[in-house]
Amino acid sequence: MMRIVVLPTAEQAAVGVARFVARAVADRPDTVLGLPTGRTMVRVYDALIRMYERGDVRFRRVTTFNLDEFIGLRPRHSGRYRAFMERYFFGAVDLRPGAAQFPSGGHEGGRRYDAAIARAGGLDLCVLGIGTNGHLGFNEPGPSLSAATHRVRLLPATRRANAYLFARGLPEVPRAAMSMGIATILNARTVVLLATGADKATIVRRALTGPITTRVPASLLQVHPNALVVLDRPAAGRLSRRAAR
Ligand code: GLP
Repeated sequence: MMRIVVLPTAEQAAVGVARFVARAVADRPDTVLGLPTGRTMVRVYDALIRMYERGDVRFRRVTTFNLDEFIGLRPRHSGRYRAFMERYFFGAVDLRPGAAQFPSGGHEGGRRYDAAIARAGGLDLCVLGIGTNGHLGFNEPGPSLSAATHRVRLLPATRRANAYLFARGLPEVPRAAMSMGIATILNARTVVLLATGADKATIVRRALTGPITTRVPASLLQVHPNALVVLDRPAAGRLSRRAAR
């Protein structure tokens, strides 16, 4: 079942998602989280940091698995998603060193990543953003999707959307990455997707109310038994009133 919640502003939508995450962690302090990067998420991580600073949430016993990571960047490169997470979230909370994992290592590495998630008891909650082309993590639209964590070639649109992370822009964006597979994501007990801004309105409508298709990876969330979608008003702008209720 997919529940859609529309809030007036991007800030309110992000705070809503942060509260949802904080509640999951409060209910179960050793929660296993799937976490995304992306500009949309900066506000969510900000809100979680504020809650942490107020003493409303603790991450000491939490384990995290990020959805994706670039391939081919040196370990301390500032464009890495690990660097993004350190900068916007991990560096400001009490997550244990070593509790945050990122996929790496091609085919074998993908198998190890899924095995590590299974050993941790599976993802309790997977937080998701959405690419303007409908990708989840780096599961790009196409004739098929991979179930397991795997190596992907990034589409030009996705490389452009990630250029902001690199000092020299697009030429510096890797052409390959690792991504959780679509089954890795859909196996999470709960998923919460956040989309904000008018530039996501078209893909949000296709993903939430269009046909379920590998051409729009996020449309597969329609089959998830426990999915929450949080939108701001601009991102919900192309949904029918009935869908956005
Ligand atoms: C990247 C990430 C995705 C994320 C997407 C949206 O491509 N790999 O996991 O959902 O960006 O990012 P933004 O929030 O910047 O629109």
